[in-house]
Amino acid sequence: MKKVIAAMVPEDSAYSVIPELVSRGIADRTAKISRKGGYKLVPIVDERVEEARERFQLCETMAHSIERMKPQERIILGLAHLPDSVRAVLPSKWEFVGDVAVIRLPEACEDYKEDIGKVYAGVLGVKTVCADVSGISGEFRRPSTEIIYGTEPESVRLENGILYDFDVTRVMFASGNTDERMRMRSTDCSGETVVDMFAGIGYFTLPIAKFSGARKVFACEKNPESYGFLLKNIRLNGVVGKVIPMLGDNRSIPGSRFADRILMGYVQTTASFLPKAISMIRPGGIIHYHDTFPAGEQEQRINEIFSESCDGFEVLGIREVKSFAPSVSHYVADVRISDRFA
Ligand SMILES: C[S@@+](CC[C@H](N)C(=O)[O-])C[C@H]1O[C@@H](n2cnc3c(N)ncnc32)[C@H](O)[C@@H]1O
Repeated sequence: MKKVIAAMVPEDSAYSVIPELVSRGIADRTAKISRKGGYKLVPIVDERVEEARERFQLCETMAHSIERMKPQERIILGLAHLPDSVRAVLPSKWEFVGDVAVIRLPEACEDYKEDIGKVYAGVLGVKTVCADVSGISGEFRRPSTEIIYGTEPESVRLENGILYDFDVTRVMFASGNTDERMRMRSTDCSGETVVDMFAGIGYFTLPIAKFSGARKVFACEKNPESYGFLLKNIRLNGVVGKVIPMLGDNRSIPGSRFADRILMGYVQTTASFLPKAISMIRPGGIIHYHDTFPAGEQEQRINEIFSESCDGFEVLGIREVKSFAPSVSHYVADVRISDRFA
């Protein structure tokens, strides 16, 4: 804390006055703005105190220095001119994809998103800020993400030794699935032929191809945009030749009983793709089956779903990937298929 002279700016005019004081170098950028009785107390640099006195009532106060403040506090300070109702809902979490930060922006922030983007970019030290408006949707899991600051939404995310290049406004990235990507990375797939039926940009394909010892990974993706990034990421991660990319619907993958392991990283309609997976798996092979279930029902539901497509299977384990909705979670089941098919 340091002792400062502060201008008492009425809260109803703070929206326009504070940016002006900051841009004209009158406000002290190294000290935190505070509130008192309907006023914002804006610390003033020593040399401009007389100038400030001509326009505002001044007071002496104690202010925290900005260097010691957390990013969230600096964001709130940088956006001190926004209405309290907006500042109260500013995002306190963000995701980084290289030079890009992605925030979830509540509707109340809509009219101020340019200011918000600029301040988040400055505090977080990124070139571009994007706002996720309403999550992902549709067969291709397209995001509803827009640029609110900067111009370049494509960047490279480094996660556990894997590089994911993608455009956050065009393809999804489930940050909640990091543990599952890590698990795939450390699964022993020595010498195996693996099929990733829903490869996307290479979410699971890349950790398996790079670290698990797999011999070949067939990576199928239907969305041409995601497929484009998959191709880039295969090169970026040095797994050309090990990963065989396939553009199209996974139900058209040729061949039967050739895969030692199949990844079904898709939720909600996964069951309709299971007969295809069963036709591709070798006896004794493992399917990593993803789906959403009400919490507590996963074991029974997985047994029901697999019973409909095959006679011989053993559920080796089920784990929760992440929460999906109230009382509903995204699970992954590791299921070994024996040689008896329905
Ligand atoms: C949910 S995303 C992948 C998510 C990723 N496994 C994760 O958990 O982060 C699923 C991908 O499957 C693709 N997809 C959907 N239906 C498909 C199909 N029939 N054949 C191939 N790819 C498909 C979508 O375009 C999307 O890129």
